[in-house]
Amino acid sequence: MSNFLIETKQLTKIYGDQTTVNAVSIHVGKGRIYGLLGRNGAGKTTIMKMILGLTPITSGEVKVFGQNMKGGEKRIYPRIGAIIETPGFYPNLTGTENLEIFAKLRGTAAPNAVKNSLEVVGLPYKDKKLFSKYSLGMKQRLGIANAILHDPELLILDEPTNGLDPIGIAEMRKFIKKLSVEYGKTILISSHILSEIALLADDIGIIDQGILLEESSMEELRQKNGRYIQVQVSDLPKATLILERQFGVKEYSVQDDHTLRLYNTTLDMAAINKALVMQDVAVISSAFCNDTLEDYFKKITGGEGIA
Ligand SMILES: Nc1ncnc2c1ncn2[C@@H]1O[C@H](COP(=O)(O)OP(=O)(O)OP(=O)(O)O)[C@@H](O)[C@H]1O
Ligand SMILES: [Mg+2]
Repeated sequence: MSNFLIETKQLTKIYGDQTTVNAVSIHVGKGRIYGLLGRNGAGKTTIMKMILGLTPITSGEVKVFGQNMKGGEKRIYPRIGAIIETPGFYPNLTGTENLEIFAKLRGTAAPNAVKNSLEVVGLPYKDKKLFSKYSLGMKQRLGIANAILHDPELLILDEPTNGLDPIGIAEMRKFIKKLSVEYGKTILISSHILSEIALLADDIGIIDQGILLEESSMEELRQKNGRYIQVQVSDLPKATLILERQFGVKEYSVQDDHTLRLYNTTLDMAAINKALVMQDVAVISSAFCNDTLEDYFKKITGGEGIA
């Protein structure tokens, strides 16, 4: 069996004549926090629903714990906790009372399950406050507490920070991290906010208009992308010719009439500068640059960016 707790192959969803999810293959490794990043309408919720078997798959495959979800629900569901849509909590009951009902419904065995999961998300046990009086942040926390009641190995959280203020977001991030680091949970989380995913995720899948544009570890992404050498030259066409012919440079982009970006940062810039000058191309400047992740996402999603 592979080490992926979730693996989709060419997962596709078509609604009418709209391909909402287009041949998406994602890989969620054990113990990792995997961030699914995409704008509103990109297809994040639909992917999660298909993984959970909450909406039929048009084509492709989903494996959870190495098993087909279809037909394996009975074995698989107890091992997953999910928040896809706000769970239907009773407004006139307290948080604890709500969780006790869900624990009973699910047959959660552990006697301290409600107390423990409230503790994980920092909500008081046996508090008198009714759910209807909860702030949005408290409601979201209760949603997570509900998802972890049965101590599942895998959590699927659809935009758990939606609508929260910056402090609420930071707190949510803290205990999602805790669930991963201290409790060893594997977490698939979606968001349309890049900075949130960048701070939280170990791996990232970038989805745009139903297509997975990129999947990699955050580490790899930080190293690989956003690093380039920017060169300003007097004669750009001549410079590109020299770079291509003499140095075999293929990965570059033209910024303006005088500016080039070279994406192979191991190039011998001293030799390049010399060759350019010798062939009457003045080098006005040359510098190593580090783009922000934001710039990178703007580039791959075609301009507008995600956050
Ligand atoms: N039941 C449905 N019937 C028809 N179209 C749907 C249905 N559910 C979703 N869609 C469409 O599929 C596309 C993707 O929706 P989805 O909810 O998966 O996106 P999302 O990335 O979760 O967006 P958001 O950030 O707004 O939650 C949207 O264009 C949406 O209108
Ligand atoms: Mg959604």
